[in-house]
Amino acid sequence: MKILVVGGGGREHALVWKIAQSPLTSEIYAAPGNAGIQEIARCLPISDTDIAGLLAFAQEKDIDLTVVGPELPLAKGIVDQFEEVGLKVFGPSREAALLETSKAFAKDFMIRHHIPTAEYRVFDSAEGARRYVLQRGAPLVVKADGLAAGKGVLVAKTISEAQDAIHRIVEQKAFGGAGERVVVEEFLKGEEASVLALVDGKVFKTMIPSQDHKRIYDGDRGPNTGGMGAYAPAPVITEALLSEIEERVLRPAVLGMEQEGRPFRGVLYAGLMITAGGPKVVEFNCRFGDPETQAILPLLEDDLLELMLAVCEGNLEGRRMNWRSGAAVCVVLASGGYPSSYNRGAVIQGLHHFPTDDVILFHAGTRRDGLRVLTDGGRVLGVTALGSDVRQAVSRAYQAGEKISFAGAYYRRDIAHRALDREPSPDDPSYGGKDTQRRDGSEDSHPRDCLSGGGPLGCL
Ligand code: AMP
Ligand code: GLY
Repeated sequence: MKILVVGGGGREHALVWKIAQSPLTSEIYAAPGNAGIQEIARCLPISDTDIAGLLAFAQEKDIDLTVVGPELPLAKGIVDQFEEVGLKVFGPSREAALLETSKAFAKDFMIRHHIPTAEYRVFDSAEGARRYVLQRGAPLVVKADGLAAGKGVLVAKTISEAQDAIHRIVEQKAFGGAGERVVVEEFLKGEEASVLALVDGKVFKTMIPSQDHKRIYDGDRGPNTGGMGAYAPAPVITEALLSEIEERVLRPAVLGMEQEGRPFRGVLYAGLMITAGGPKVVEFNCRFGDPETQAILPLLEDDLLELMLAVCEGNLEGRRMNWRSGAAVCVVLASGGYPSSYNRGAVIQGLHHFPTDDVILFHAGTRRDGLRVLTDGGRVLGVTALGSDVRQAVSRAYQAGEKISFAGAYYRRDIAHRALDREPSPDDPSYGGKDTQRRDGSEDSHPRDCLSGGGPLGCL
């Protein structure tokens, strides 16, 4: 089959890497791709938001399946436009993507379908929002309604920070049209985690839970970024909690979207806060997470392309997702200055050391210049390592990261710290960190039907 992957970040490299392993794949294209993707796919000089250009290419080449990585083309209706001309495409329609593209829609949807989330109000004027802030008191979270590249959320510790955030979003239009409406919501305390599921409109299959690190600095300080690292599985999500999330979040969301006439197909990403009162949804995304995907897909034993085709055909019922044992950790190497301004064009050294048996380098912001590979974005590389447990995967990822260098490189040193805090250390007599990784998945794969959503909990 001929496959086109739309996007050019670390998530898309992981998607191309996994799809290339399917025996069904004959040719893979990526638009626009990056220097790492270029080693396994033909990269096209088409932007991921140029829907007309992508459509023309897919028609001319008779592409069998287009897989959409980022949210912007989904928000622009790429899926509707491809389906209109009979092209198969993996991702939600524009109406279904509202779960991510409008926070006001997502919040109201959650209330309609009794999905646990923070208390909130939506405002289309700064004045109303300000009054509500005074009435509620701090801390509060102020969010631009629309897409703002992960920057439109401001956690306000004081009333005056909340008032400033409202001023920036609504009056100064810091995020353009995304701030025409503003959501003011209750601040939730707890640990965050991401639970992603494949959804075919009716049936969902839950993926292995993961955790992202959104802040730029160690200890979860500093401004939000696209994500500075991720790992899976996230031990904060126990099997019992995962079942609860399936019952209270995923099932009503999938059913609700179908009932409202905008069935969701693709990846539904629930960003959750695990609070003392149970899991609550912080946000929905309508696509694979970045960098969560770089940690999740290396653990997936099954053929991703087959699963994606099942999603497009409404045929997920009865399928399983099987996960290898152990853990995967992705440490993002970023350009110094990110998420504010940063330089591009630094030469990256040390790439020839990889891949190894345990380490895969997923490229994000890179481009080839003759024989050299240069930095070309804020997030540059995702160093992803596998291990028998999170501790081993973390140590492998950091050892690998030390072999790579470029001017101004920056990375967090504490990726997966929450999981490590829960795991016994090798000095602890209860530690059993033997290397149980397998490539064939025959014996050591997770016997976790509940993770596959394959039992009664996972199927609608
Ligand atoms: P979002 O784009 O909505 O996921 O928000 C970005 C980040 O802001 C989240 O990952 C959380 O760390 C934080 N955040 C958003 N909403 C809340 C909330 N209600 N309470 C606490 N933190 C939040
Ligand atoms: N890692 C967060 C996201 O993909 O939105």
